[in-house]
Amino acid sequence: MQMRFLIKSVSLIICALVTMTLTTVANADAGMDARAGERVYTQCTGCHAPGYNRTGPKHCGILGRPAGGVKNFEYTKAMKNSGIIWTSEALDEFLISPLKMIPGTSMGFVGISSAQERQQLIVYLSQLNENNTLCK
Ligand code: HEC
Repeated sequence: MQMRFLIKSVSLIICALVTMTLTTVANADAGMDARAGERVYTQCTGCHAPGYNRTGPKHCGILGRPAGGVKNFEYTKAMKNSGIIWTSEALDEFLISPLKMIPGTSMGFVGISSAQERQQLIVYLSQLNENNTLCK
């Protein structure tokens, strides 16, 4: 009898925990995405930094900027002449497969297959604006 009560209590607790977890996931806000995106960004930091050029151009101010728009960075013609504006949608397509979207780009990165990771990364990138301490 006591054992049954124990099992029932434990399963109730598990139910409550699962519900809490699902609610947390459902409430995932931009802040959580940005933090997750910061982790995804570690795939980029071999070549990029938010605030200064490395092998790749700096990312501060990327959202809404024309491709090839960082003044003192030497882009390929393919990037410079692509006519792309870096909206969220354009970034998403680029990050699936950079070479597919811009044949001839020198960005040697295969792409990110997870739509969720791309979305989180784009939220992170969109917060690299002039209000961000990494961009000052
Ligand atoms: C192996 C080095 C390398 C890695 C890794 C890399 N990039 Fe790049 N990236 C570059 C280079 C080089 C360019 C310039 C390409 C050109 O001129 O064709 C570039 C260009 C870009 C551009 C266009 C910028 C502009 O100003 O027009 C974006 C956006 C970008 N990278 C995002 C990313 C993101 C996000 C990641 C991580 C998921 C990443 N890159 C990983 C090297 C890299």
